[in-house]
Formats: sequence, structure tokens, C-alpha cells
Amino acid sequence: MQLIDRISNIFHEKFGHTPMHIARAPGRVNLLGEHVDYNDGFVLPAAIDRATYVAFSPAGTPHSSLVAVNLRNEASFSPQTIPSKTQPDSRRLPDWAHYPAGVMWSLLEEQLVVPAINAVYASDVPRGSGLSSSASVEMAFMIAWQSLGGWTLPSMQLALLAQKAENRYVGVNCGIMDQFASACGVNDQLLLLDCRSLEWQSVPLPEHASIVIADTSVRRKLTSGEYNNRRAACEEAVRLIQKDLPEIKSLRDVSVDEFNRFAGNLPDEVAKRARHVVEEIGRTIQARALLEAGDVQRFGRLMNECHVSLRDLYEVSCPELEAMTRIAQSLDGCYGARLTGAGFGGCTVNLVVQEIAPSFAESLAKQYALETGLRPQVYISRPSQGAGLL
Ligand code: GLA
Repeated sequence: MQLIDRISNIFHEKFGHTPMHIARAPGRVNLLGEHVDYNDGFVLPAAIDRATYVAFSPAGTPHSSLVAVNLRNEASFSPQTIPSKTQPDSRRLPDWAHYPAGVMWSLLEEQLVVPAINAVYASDVPRGSGLSSSASVEMAFMIAWQSLGGWTLPSMQLALLAQKAENRYVGVNCGIMDQFASACGVNDQLLLLDCRSLEWQSVPLPEHASIVIADTSVRRKLTSGEYNNRRAACEEAVRLIQKDLPEIKSLRDVSVDEFNRFAGNLPDEVAKRARHVVEEIGRTIQARALLEAGDVQRFGRLMNECHVSLRDLYEVSCPELEAMTRIAQSLDGCYGARLTGAGFGGCTVNLVVQEIAPSFAESLAKQYALETGLRPQVYISRPSQGAGLL
């Protein structure tokens, strides 16, 4: 509530009236299926109870004016300045504004009506923490423009347009998972998405289990380059395996047995990346059955295996994520713990026996601080509803 009051007050000071609406779009945490969305795999994220909030009204001017409260910065853009990533006064558009400007760009590409807005936004999804703060910003602005534009699109379509903004305007070649989770979140449910068909279903969080998010407080560096490299390695693997299996379209189409047969034809690094993806897709398929059967113990073990694979094969972990995961896995009541999101820093996700989640969170924070000298944030998180107007 505090954030909402804050952005409403700042909006009033800046624009002289109360905002017409407030849009909210959550961040997400991913339980299983990491770095497989851009390989047509399955993912199992949940929208979380932390979000970006945008207070907005139609601007009545040709350009949109935005205030980013967390960053104490302002920016303006219009359909004319968007292609050159500049502002109406010719200054460079700051990096943070590429996300909302990218959303406008993506909607204009669809020939949709996208009125100029005055907007003030703030988020309690920490940036660069692996909880999809960018997707939550994109989706909050999607909702803002949808509500002023006089058109309505299905949530998945909004997610795809936000992904296009990030791929083509911001320049990060991300998959669909983050925007999907932010757009389609369901209270108290996990979301199981087939990234090829885009069919999805909600799956109840296992009974008596809580999600604990542990932020190492280390922020990702150079991720877009590392991320795009990983993606390129997967594409290279597909190209090389197609020599033996011409019918495959992505690593989703390669079974673990087939992969074992052909892995020797791949350069070492490409083989490691691709093995993670092929085995991780296998884990998500098992996970579905385990969740249906209520076998949270074995589901947790898959989370632990996923972490090892992200560390050793995909190589996206870091010492702090290792410390956080190792400590969590040694504590009572932890079904599974692993890094979540793209990696290189940020958060771990822990599935924990509900009754002891508070003491688990406390011990994890304490031991991590002792070991690393860093101050982590560890909290119990509830799956929340997807993006919408408040
Ligand atoms: C980032 C991307 C997602 C996904 C994850 C890794 O969050 O935005 O599309 O690829 O990394 O699973």
C-alpha cells in the first residue's frame, strides 16, 4: 500500500491532479525449467507478491512523461523519438526508459492506439535480482496503455508483445517465461507453461509447502551478453544435431538418449549447455507428474538437480548463489533450493515445509550473512495474481 500512496502523491505533485488509474504487474519466481523457455521447453514459474505499480493518466500532449521513483529520474518520449532512443529535447533516452518506450514501440508496430501518458512508477521487485523486474515494468505499462487505448488483448498476447519489446527494442533475447508469468499469474498457484504451444495450466502449490525467496544481494553483471551467448550455444547445438536428426526444430525435440548419442559431435561448451537444456526439459516433464501425485519430496530433489546443472553445465551460478543454496539445502524442512532466473547473482528459490518456513528463512539469512559478510533479504512469498488495473 505504501508504494501506491507514494506514487499517487508524487503523481499529484508533478502533474497537478490525481492519477486516473494504477496498474500493477508482478515479478515472478521460477521453480523449475530454467533456461529452457527459449528452447521450446516447459517452465514452472509463479507470479510473486512483489510488483511494479504505475500511476497514470492520459497526457494530452504528443509525448509521454515518466517518473521512475526508485531511480529518481524522469524521461519523455513520443512515437517520433522512440526509434532513435532519444527524448523530445534530443537527449538520450535513459536505459530504464527503454522498457516502457519498447512497450509503446511494440504496440505501435501492431497498429494499436497508444495514447501519450503521464506516469509515475515504482517497484518493490529488486532490479537485477532474477525476479523479472523488467518484465513487471513492461507488463505494468502494457496494462496502462491497454486501458487508455480502447482495445483489449488476451493476457498471453500482451506478454508476447512485451517480449517483443525486450527482444527487439531493449536488445535482450529473452524467452517468454517472465512476461507470461507477470501477465497470467494466479493467486496461490504455480503456472505450467509449454513454451512451444503456449498452452498453460495452473498447478496448486504443493500442500503444506511455502516458497522462500533468498536474495544474495549480489547483482547480475553483463548478463545480457552472457544470456545471449547461452542462447546462441543452444541454437548452435540444434544446427549441429540436425545433421543427424534433420527433423528436430529445437532442443525440445531431442531426448536424453538421442542427445547422449550425438553429444560427441558438439564442441565441449556447446555440449554442456545443450545437455543442461535437454535434461532440464526432462526434469520438468517428471515434475508435472510428481506435482499431480503430491510428491513434494521428489519435486524438491529435481530443484536441487537443476541447480547443479545450472552451476556445472550452464555455468550461470556464482559463489554467493552457491553459498545460499548450500546453506538452504543443509537446513531442516528444505525440500529443494536452487538459483532462480537467468543467474549470475540475484535470488534463490526454496521450497520449504510450511510450518517451519519462518525459522528456515531466519536461519538461512543468519548463516549466509555470517559466511559471506553480506546482508541478504530472505522472505516467504505467495503466488499472486497477474498484471491488471487496481
Ligand atoms: C530470464 C529470461 C527468461 C528465461 C530466464 C532463464 O529471466 O528473461 O526468458 O530465459 O532468464 O530461465
